Amino acid sequence: MKVQSMKNSVVFATLAVGACVASAQGQVNVICSVQAEWCNMIGTVYTRTTGTRINIAMKGSGEALAQIIAERENPKTDIWFGGTGDPHLQAAEQNLTLEYKSPSLPQLHAWARQQAAQSSYKTVGIYSGPLGFGYNTELLAKKKLPVPKSWNDLLAANLKGEIQVANPASSGTAYTMVATLVQLMGEDKAFDYLKKLHKNISQYTRSGTGPIKAVARGESTISISFVHDGPGEKLNGFPVETVTPSDGTGAEIGSMSIIKGARNLEAAKKFYEWALTPSAQEMAAAAKQFQLPSNQSAKNDARIPDFKKIKFINYDYARYGASAERSRLIAKWEKEVNSLPR
Ligand code: F6P
Repeated sequence: MKVQSMKNSVVFATLAVGACVASAQGQVNVICSVQAEWCNMIGTVYTRTTGTRINIAMKGSGEALAQIIAERENPKTDIWFGGTGDPHLQAAEQNLTLEYKSPSLPQLHAWARQQAAQSSYKTVGIYSGPLGFGYNTELLAKKKLPVPKSWNDLLAANLKGEIQVANPASSGTAYTMVATLVQLMGEDKAFDYLKKLHKNISQYTRSGTGPIKAVARGESTISISFVHDGPGEKLNGFPVETVTPSDGTGAEIGSMSIIKGARNLEAAKKFYEWALTPSAQEMAAAAKQFQLPSNQSAKNDARIPDFKKIKFINYDYARYGASAERSRLIAKWEKEVNSLPR
C-alpha cells in the first residue's frame, strides 16, 4: 500500500505512472476524500485481503474534482472514493467518470441508489451525514457562550473570530453549507447571511474537517462541520460536541466513482464492489468515522448521528451538483463574501 498526503500528490502521480508500467492488473490508484484514518485502514486491509497494491492520494472533494479535470486527457486515477456527492455529480456531468451498474445496487439505501440513478450510474452513494456545528465545550463554558442551536445563533456579535468553516472551492463540506443555506433561505437572504457570518469567521480552511479539528485542539470555539466528524474527536479525548441547526440542515451523500479511461479498470471495479460490501463499510466506524453506511445490511454504530432526530431540508442534489450551479455559487461566494474585510 502507498498512501500520499495532499502535499505530495505530485510524487504519487510519478510513482503511479512508474508502477502502472510494472504491473497493470495488480494495483489500483485511488483518490480518497475521507479522513486519513479511514483511507489508511482501507489501504492496509484491501492490500492484505486481495493482494492488490493500492496507491492512495488524499484530497478534499473540490480538490479531487480539480485533479480529475486536470488529468482528463491522461487519467492517473482509477477510482475516486468518498467526498461529498456534489462534485461527483459534476464529474459525471462532465463525462469524467464511467457508467457502471453494480450488482450490489439493490442492497443500498434509496438515497444511495438515487445518487446513482441521477448520474446515469456514473457515481454511487457510499455514506451519508448531516451538516451542523461542532463546539469545544470547555471554551464555550470559559467564554460564557451559549451552545449555538440555529444558523442565526452563529451571527451573534460575541462570536466574532470564534467560528471556522472551510472554503467552498476546495471543500465539499463548505459547499454543502452554501447550497443548504440557499435552499433554506432563498439565494439573496443566504448571501446576506453569509456576509454577516463572514465577520465571525476566524479562518476558511482548505479541508472540510480542518475546522472541527481546530475546535478539538481549542484553536476555535465553534465549527461548521458534518456532525459525524465529532465523535471521532471525542474518542480521541477532546472536549467536542455537535449539534444540528433547529431551523433545518442539509446532508451529504458521500460518493464513489470510477474514472473514465482508468488504466486499471478491472481492479477499479473489484475495489468498487468491495467498497459497497457491509464489511468494508463497517470499517469506517473501526477507523473512528461515523457516517451512515449506504449498504442496508451494514451494522450501524451507535455513535452515527440519528437521522430521525434531525430537521432536514429537501436537498436538491441534482440541481446543486450541476456544474454550472456549483461553479456559479462558488464564484459568487468568492466575489461577494470572501473578498469582504472582516
Ligand atoms: O471524511 C470526513 C468528511 O466529512 C466526509 O464525510 C466528507 O465527504 C468529506 O469529509 C468532505 O471533505 P471536504 O469538505 O474536505 O471536501
